[in-house]
Amino acid sequence: MPSVYSILRRRSAAAKLARVFERSEASTGRALPIRKTGRGIWAATPVRVIEATVKTLHGIGLLGDGGPPGHVIDAGTGDGRVSAVLAAWDPSRVVYGFETDTALYAQAVANLHALEADGCIDAAQVHLLEADYCDVRSYERGGIVLSQTAVVFNYPDGNERQLARFVAQHCGPQTTLCLLTHNRTLELDELPRRACHDVSDGTGPRWRLSLYRRSTGGINTTSSSAPASGGAPSGAPSD
Ligand SMILES: C[S@@+](CC[C@H](N)C(=O)[O-])C[C@H]1O[C@@H](n2cnc3c(N)ncnc32)[C@H](O)[C@@H]1O
Repeated sequence: MPSVYSILRRRSAAAKLARVFERSEASTGRALPIRKTGRGIWAATPVRVIEATVKTLHGIGLLGDGGPPGHVIDAGTGDGRVSAVLAAWDPSRVVYGFETDTALYAQAVANLHALEADGCIDAAQVHLLEADYCDVRSYERGGIVLSQTAVVFNYPDGNERQLARFVAQHCGPQTTLCLLTHNRTLELDELPRRACHDVSDGTGPRWRLSLYRRSTGGINTTSSSAPASGGAPSGAPSD
């Protein structure tokens, strides 16, 4: 049972996250947070959908206190929102956010600094790299041991098969690739899909979280519909 203090702390963090990334979207001067980058397409996931996704990952035991050890790779961090939510919800876990687009990378750095100044995250736990997530040299330069990766998170923009091949070849058998898509389940030849969960922020359409990994051990293979935000799956942070 979470304490009143932790519920209030999470609510305050959620409000700060929403504010920082609304400002970040507005600063692009675009009607929609979407544009082409050198490597793919930047499209921003709504912060509340990311929060619902992270709750689901806590609920199925992939993140949080009971989750497997290891860091998280936020593959294609955009303006840093997934890394920020992960850091706010799982403060003891190291997150590496990769982005090749220089402007987005700079935006992500600024957003994480703003959130740290607000007391929402500990920026020392989040490492942003202006680098290609499918290049082993990016990890070597960052001192990142790929075999210690618990989770790789990606919002697919056309590079998901290349990423799945990279995970299959370079990460451990227990590393879980998590793809968040609008409403379709992607089948990948490169890594078997082990589970699939619907996630929603309670207001918009459902998104789908598909989990892929080499090994079946330690993963809840039943597919499910995650309750809307506010009704966390059992074991997840419950506010
Ligand atoms: C669909 S956006 C998702 C942004 C963010 N994760 C979110 O959910 O709001 C995908 C991002 O991945 C970046 N990207 C694509 N391929 C990449 C690569 N090989 N290395 C690093 N970043 C990449 C793109 O530039 C883009 O910003």
